[in-house]
Amino acid sequence: MENLELPRSVEIIEVGPRDGLQNESNFVPTKVKAAFIEALWQAGFKEMEITSFVSPKWVPQMGDAAEVIRLSGNHPGTIVLTPNKRGIDTALASGARAVAVFIGVSSSFNQKNINKTTDEALNGLIPHIRELKNKGVFVRACISTAFHCPYEGEIAPADTIALCKVLADAGVNELSVADTIGKATPQESFSLFSLLKRELPGVLIAAHFHDTRKMALANIYASLQAGVTRFDSSAGGLGGCPFAPGASGNAATEDVVYMLHRMGIETGVDLNLLNHAISVVEPHLSRELTSWYYQSYKKEQHS
Ligand code: HMG
Ligand code: MG
Repeated sequence: MENLELPRSVEIIEVGPRDGLQNESNFVPTKVKAAFIEALWQAGFKEMEITSFVSPKWVPQMGDAAEVIRLSGNHPGTIVLTPNKRGIDTALASGARAVAVFIGVSSSFNQKNINKTTDEALNGLIPHIRELKNKGVFVRACISTAFHCPYEGEIAPADTIALCKVLADAGVNELSVADTIGKATPQESFSLFSLLKRELPGVLIAAHFHDTRKMALANIYASLQAGVTRFDSSAGGLGGCPFAPGASGNAATEDVVYMLHRMGIETGVDLNLLNHAISVVEPHLSRELTSWYYQSYKKEQHS
């Protein structure tokens, strides 16, 4: 059989405790979050977004961020998300060594998500990014609506690339480029990630796919072929943004890891321990999780 040009290993950045639990209709108790995060580290992840410092009025599900960091922030791969100076200061005071800032390409989305236009948000973030870099903090920039916006429709790749370039010039270590509403096709993913890899060789590039239309795995496969070796995904397929109508869960980590392992690509993640981690949080959610691999694990447990 002919072999595809694929990497031997990839890094999975687990985002379930943040992207996942921010979008659940109920508040997951802080101690359960801590147990979930610990079980995920045990499953072998090296990097994880564990919480976000955002306004508790806007996202009450993340209102316990300081306590989550206190209980679970000691691991070297811990990342916390925040959109502003207040969140950055609180995160640093809580001991965070890696911060993810976030901004969408489209102004309409930014207005709904952070109450700012894209230009206002960018102008606000740049000095903070420089300050974080001066302090030796790892900075990840999450780029929402990189393909499609729930309010403005299709996004021109040139606009996404231009925003990524400004952030790369400001010194971010990583760009996590997101299909926020799960509408990108494999062709769109291959094309955008090929351009980003070519035009921004000095910055880490991660792909972040929501799975609204069940195209996340196909998009990951297309992005692998474009040279992407870092993927955000969410245990149990949790996830979504409360301010992006139609943004259902992220690519389910266990389905992504299963596919990659079957293709001979290493992730360092133990699938059994990952399924166990999901079973720690599932009873505290208001719904059952439906990812394929986790469902088959549950059937096995009950047979
Ligand atoms: P605002 O109302 O315009 O601004 O919100 P504000 O400065 O008046 O803040 C409102 C209140 O929040 C104030 O409290 C602030 O002190 C407080 P009050 O004085 O009224 O009592 N506040 C904070 N509290 C804790 N931590 C903070 C913080 N900042 C302000 N950091 C703001 C503007 C940006 C704060 C608000 O819009 C916000 O918090 N938005 C966050 C929305 C969010 O979390 N969205 C989901 C994450 S992004 C995502 O999921 C996409 C991603 O996964 C990629 C993809 O899939 O696309 C990353
Ligand atoms: Mg997301």
